[in-house]
Amino acid sequence: MCPLTAYIPVSHYVVMGFVKLGFKGRDVISILDFSREDLEELFAYADRIEKMGRVKLRVLEGKIIALAFFEPSTRTRLSFETAAKRLGADVISFSGEEAISVAKGENLADTIRMLDNYSDLIVIRHRYEGAAKFAAEIAKNPVINAGDGKQHHPTQAMIDLYTVKKLYGTIDGLTYAVVGDLRYGRAATSFIYALTLFKPKFVYLVSPPLLRARPETLKLLQERGIRFKEVENIGDVISDVDVMYVTRIQKERFPDPLEYEKVKGSYKITMDILSHAKKELRILHPLPKVDEIDPEVDKSPYAAYFLQAAYGVPVRMALLALIFGVEI
Ligand code: NCD
Repeated sequence: MCPLTAYIPVSHYVVMGFVKLGFKGRDVISILDFSREDLEELFAYADRIEKMGRVKLRVLEGKIIALAFFEPSTRTRLSFETAAKRLGADVISFSGEEAISVAKGENLADTIRMLDNYSDLIVIRHRYEGAAKFAAEIAKNPVINAGDGKQHHPTQAMIDLYTVKKLYGTIDGLTYAVVGDLRYGRAATSFIYALTLFKPKFVYLVSPPLLRARPETLKLLQERGIRFKEVENIGDVISDVDVMYVTRIQKERFPDPLEYEKVKGSYKITMDILSHAKKELRILHPLPKVDEIDPEVDKSPYAAYFLQAAYGVPVRMALLALIFGVEI
């Protein structure tokens, strides 16, 4: 789809002084393309869908959604597929470059042109930053970024905030700790970006020095007046935290394997650490988790990450329905 601005006259409307762009016909490249009001509309829609239970809706009958996963995925791909099918759409997909003509030397632009002809919407995951934006510039139909390198993962951030809202009834006024690989992690980065659209009480950025948040992330927090602090150990701040967002070290994104060896296993959330936490603390994780959360924690009331993964379906259903402009 063409750059966003081309669509503003069609879909934008003003609600109580806030500019609300709406979702209809939009690409989803970065969570920062959306306003708080947009996200609240999405969450209300997802909540309605969730309350309907596992019914099959037929609102997207006749539509074809292409899932173009050039990088590995479990939850994102399967929850998009589930969401599309529950709305009545058909799905075409591939997973991994080996399976398609990229292995024969085809360039991304040609692959996207072809998918755009076959389908009504493309969901793309790629190891290169900017790949989804590039695809959106080529495709005439909407493109959803399901992760581009270390940069953005907007639909994960939508699910994450929806989970916080369901757990606490609010996203504002809470103290967050984003823990782990803040340098290479697109889920962590998108979550931090998403928080800047709301009014968190405080955000702790918790990571080993080598995995600190990138300068552009810190700059955004500063510009948007979000109170935050970079710390190395979760143990130092845990008693203050309401929502802990944990991420794995993104081994595959390290340019140098020796750098990865330096940070491997450098943090782990255990029941011992959690003995200093508020009773109401909840832990989110985009998954997959490797060794950064002790399996004992899975059974505790702190663990909200499986619930969060389940919300992937209603949130992605809501997003698809809104982009196609169908009523549910
Ligand atoms: C995340 C991703 O792919 O960025 N996973 C996901 O989509 N749920 C996080 C990760 O791989 O660590």
